[in-house]
Amino acid sequence: MIITIDGPAGAGKSTAARRLADLLGFELLDTGAIYRAVTLAARQKNVAPEDDASLKHLLDQTRIELRPGEVLLDGEDVSSEIRTPEVTAAIQGFADSRLVRKIVTEKTRQLARGRSVVTEGRDQGSDVFPDADCKFYITASDEVRAARRHAELLAKGIRIGISEVLSSQRQRDLQDASREVGKLVCPAGAIVIDASRLSEDEVLTKLIEYLPRGIRPLDPRDHVKSLANDYLSQGDPLGWFDALYASAHRDTSKIPRADRRPNEHLMDWLDRQRIVGDGKSALVVGC
Ligand code: C5P
Repeated sequence: MIITIDGPAGAGKSTAARRLADLLGFELLDTGAIYRAVTLAARQKNVAPEDDASLKHLLDQTRIELRPGEVLLDGEDVSSEIRTPEVTAAIQGFADSRLVRKIVTEKTRQLARGRSVVTEGRDQGSDVFPDADCKFYITASDEVRAARRHAELLAKGIRIGISEVLSSQRQRDLQDASREVGKLVCPAGAIVIDASRLSEDEVLTKLIEYLPRGIRPLDPRDHVKSLANDYLSQGDPLGWFDALYASAHRDTSKIPRADRRPNEHLMDWLDRQRIVGDGKSALVVGC
């Protein structure tokens, strides 16, 4: 099952895609993060976007992984590095490269194979998954998008003027819309959402409203199980707490508490410690 969300930078599609994926129990493919990781890797090795031979060699040797809330480059978490203004400014050359687009498109299709995903980018509903089950195009006015990006950068401690953000955004829009392959377009059959006057919650509500029959948000308990399984399979048994609380956005109905059965990990631990629980009570503290 594939849901695509495309749109220009700063329209709020990343947040919407993440929240929708969480609610449906789908995986999130942030393809912008892949283009960013490619750019970072190339900059680290001084490979120019026009140098196809070196780029191919580099990308053959480089492992890019998307994890919930993390982007790994050869195993190293580069989630912050890929979002610096320097990387953002350098992306276009790599995003314009036919070779890079081919490799990233193949990787994205491979990541989605046999899975239920929400995939986010510029060309997901048009070029990468033209037969997706559901396509959205989220947009917003230039000024609203620039103001949001500006606030995000400030929150990360990156000091930059709003007019600079607006002009670099216009530059990016132009480049995204005019590249030869994989350009930003509203895909055929996509549902268009203008988020200029909508809050994040309202965008999410609209997405859910327009989902085809048969795709429904998970029951909160199944949502927790799916998150926990994702993190357990990555060897991070506690990571899902943060993801759960973040995705609930303070809505406590999304955080099911006790399910009135002993936690299987507690039972395992008690067994291993040879602690007999008969007649005793246990308090498991979490946060
Ligand atoms: O979405 P984000 O702003 O992180 O994407 C970074 C850049 O990667 C975009 O400006 C765009 O040029 C490029 N991109 C792309 N195709 C995609 C996703 C992102 O060309 N599917």
